[in-house]
Amino acid sequence: MGYLVGVDLGTSGTKTVLFDPAGRALAGATAEYPLYQPEIGWAEQDPDDWWRAVRETIAAVIKKSGINTRDIRAMGLSGQMHGLVLLDRDGAVLRRSIIWCDQRTGLECDQIHERVGRERLIQITANPALTGFTASKLLWVRNHEPGIFERTAKVLLPKDYIRYRLTGEYATEVSDASGTQFLDVPRRTWSAEVLDRLGIPADWMPAVYESYEISGQLTRQAAALTGLPEGLPVAGGGGDQAAGAVGNGIVRTGVVSSTIGTSGVVFAHTDSVRIDPGGRVHTFCHAVPGCWHIMGVTQGAGLSYRWFRDEFCAVEQVMARRLGVDPYELMGEQARSAQPGCGGLIYLPYLMGERTPHLDPAAKGVFFGLSARHTRADMIRAVMEGVTYSLLDALCIIREMGVDASEVRASGGGARSPLWRQMQADMFGTRVCALESGEGPALGAALLAGVGAGIYGSVPEACDAAVRPGESVQPDERSARVYRRLYPIYRGLYAQLKPSYDRLAETLEALREE
Ligand code: XUL
Repeated sequence: MGYLVGVDLGTSGTKTVLFDPAGRALAGATAEYPLYQPEIGWAEQDPDDWWRAVRETIAAVIKKSGINTRDIRAMGLSGQMHGLVLLDRDGAVLRRSIIWCDQRTGLECDQIHERVGRERLIQITANPALTGFTASKLLWVRNHEPGIFERTAKVLLPKDYIRYRLTGEYATEVSDASGTQFLDVPRRTWSAEVLDRLGIPADWMPAVYESYEISGQLTRQAAALTGLPEGLPVAGGGGDQAAGAVGNGIVRTGVVSSTIGTSGVVFAHTDSVRIDPGGRVHTFCHAVPGCWHIMGVTQGAGLSYRWFRDEFCAVEQVMARRLGVDPYELMGEQARSAQPGCGGLIYLPYLMGERTPHLDPAAKGVFFGLSARHTRADMIRAVMEGVTYSLLDALCIIREMGVDASEVRASGGGARSPLWRQMQADMFGTRVCALESGEGPALGAALLAGVGAGIYGSVPEACDAAVRPGESVQPDERSARVYRRLYPIYRGLYAQLKPSYDRLAETLEALREE
């Protein structure tokens, strides 16, 4: 039997799943790790925590499944994109990873535009300079931690650090590399021009593969630590969004996915490179060879919901422990008891700044329209609605770019909530379909490995064999009408608050320096 292992190195934890070739999950395991926020807007994780979580979850999956590990044909890696992992010449980690949602690099983005030219940068990397992307993080280290910059010998992305620990290879693949801002996205190779203009040695970059290609084999040491067989092929895999899209079957035009994980993403496949000149959505290489994708990103999607759970839902957490259910289930029940539109309460999900459509690290979260009649249930529902309005912002831009989005497939933790799926159908005005397997990125990574190992002939063929759409919901006209009336107010709020966001950022910066 040709089993496949998919590892998804997320922000809150790592999930490892063992699949059969029909995409059925035989066993899965997750392990969490901390997110460090030493300053407002900063976000870091320890690569050692990731490696521990990967080892533990692989070992747990093997034990749970009881299979003979010789029957595993290949493994694929997926993970949070953009994070900066710096290694010295002995392969030792030089500092904690500055991860995707960190917003400290506004000035470095300006430097990138000055050195490369904004237009030229968009031509080559298909995106303007972004605080979330790896390049500005590397420049921040050069500006603020020159000692570490000088000792740097390799720059890796989070899942590629795991690849290094598993195989000893310094390698990445096109979908994740697209989020570094060092890749020539139309040509699918490192850009000598961007690296040169930014003063980054080209040999710091790992080898780039197509996502299905085998990038290395498991070393004896990694085999002993994980329980997997030595020599197991490890495929390129994908950034969590591209791998998730493969796991959701977004490998042809027409079907779009909407993912609510820590971040929220609307993702569309394209057969040619299409770039939004305003840089409001990202264009990246897809994990399908010869194809690209467009995506809009809400920085604080599931992150907003989790934040609200942790800070304001102690009651649900205690109850959930007693009843043996997930606190999110109880929060969902509360949200269902509130009215669509929450009596005018609107939430802006900018807890970690925002990317689509505002590209603004200074943006902050807001509850607008609070009155003494509002309840915690309204606030929970407002968080869900605010995140969904933000995904609608992304979908509108993708539609403006002429991409067909007649069906939306919902994925990520948020898709487990029937209310959140219905809300998306109501706001997007389309059928929203769940997926039989909720394993998006882990399944996508495993399928890519299956293509690399020769189990499937191509990525779309792998999806046909292993991805099955589940139940779908249609828009409810009554709720849709409410959202259509409130959405323009949601949209207007950012523009009105912009001057205050900037003043707040300046004030906080000044206070930090005092
Ligand atoms: C994509 C992005 C997030 C992270 C974390 O551009 O920043 O999806 O990969 O999930």
